[in-house]
Amino acid sequence: MNAVHRMLTLTNFRKDTPHVLKKISVLVAAVVALAGCGSNSGSTGSDPAGGAGDSITMGFSQVGAESGWRTANTKSVQESAKSAGIELKFSDAQQKQENQIKALRSFIQQKVDVIAFSPVVESGWDTVLKEAQNAKIPVILTDRAVDSKDTSLYKTFLGSDFVEEGKKAGQWLVEEYKDESGPVNIVELQGTTGSAPANDRKAGFAEVIGADPKFKIIASQTGDFTRAKGKEVMEAFLKSNPDIDVLYAHNDDMGLGAIEAIEGAGKTPGADIKIITVDAVKDGMQALADGKINYIVECSPLLGPQLMDLAKKVVAGEQVPPRVVTEETTFTQEQAKQALPSRQY
Ligand code: AHR
Repeated sequence: MNAVHRMLTLTNFRKDTPHVLKKISVLVAAVVALAGCGSNSGSTGSDPAGGAGDSITMGFSQVGAESGWRTANTKSVQESAKSAGIELKFSDAQQKQENQIKALRSFIQQKVDVIAFSPVVESGWDTVLKEAQNAKIPVILTDRAVDSKDTSLYKTFLGSDFVEEGKKAGQWLVEEYKDESGPVNIVELQGTTGSAPANDRKAGFAEVIGADPKFKIIASQTGDFTRAKGKEVMEAFLKSNPDIDVLYAHNDDMGLGAIEAIEGAGKTPGADIKIITVDAVKDGMQALADGKINYIVECSPLLGPQLMDLAKKVVAGEQVPPRVVTEETTFTQEQAKQALPSRQY
């Protein structure tokens, strides 16, 4: 009613003026309409989300902005929320678990309808997930998993099979060197320490190449999924290991940083050192088409539409599958040339 009071003062109100009375009735109607909207927690206006009169508010905690993949994932989530009519409260954790825990607690306090998050690391989530469960707020894991034993703490997990991605990388390598006796000296740039993709891509790759002793991982270190760290760690690898045959990088960005280091050391990426990466973002695909990377295992960041569908179902109390695996492929240099013109991210 503050707006009404302000209006009364401004119009030099006189009780017997019909013109002023008309203005007041219009204003009161507007205020009543606005108050009605406000009761629809975080409503975006129309009702495209739930269909039952209430729109959905989602609290989304993103890992950060460490890679091209992450930027594409953020865009996908934001755009899909908008077209699904879901109000998104977006929080960037800058690759720190404590920031994500704070964001989740803030979403719980704000009583959002559903929480979705991509956990920076796998462990240490039980307490805050229990808090969300006690507050009856459903949680969806997206992109990355947690290692909680109690799977009732979240409704579903949407994302890639990272072990499978690691295996695909290993299978290409086994095929590539099938006629050579070895040794094949491999260096590995791992993703963020303790994260699901770093753990699983390492494990899947090791399992496949472990079947043949000619494959030797001579150095393995984290590059935190960033281009800068990828370059820095590859420079160190090159200094202490003169005979590197293969680089396996857990994402394109670290691979692209490593390419700068390899070129800086006077070697030819893709020829002197063969390179396998994961993601298939545009920059990675360009390097693959240019012959600087030899093989890329795709990891799709376009999770937004499926996430919004799952959120609507979960909020409506419908059953959802506990695991939704993203469909993905792999790219050779030739395939990258063909796919690049229509690549979305
Ligand atoms: O969790 C997905 C991984 O995180 C992507 O492969 C990587 O680029 C990102 O930072």
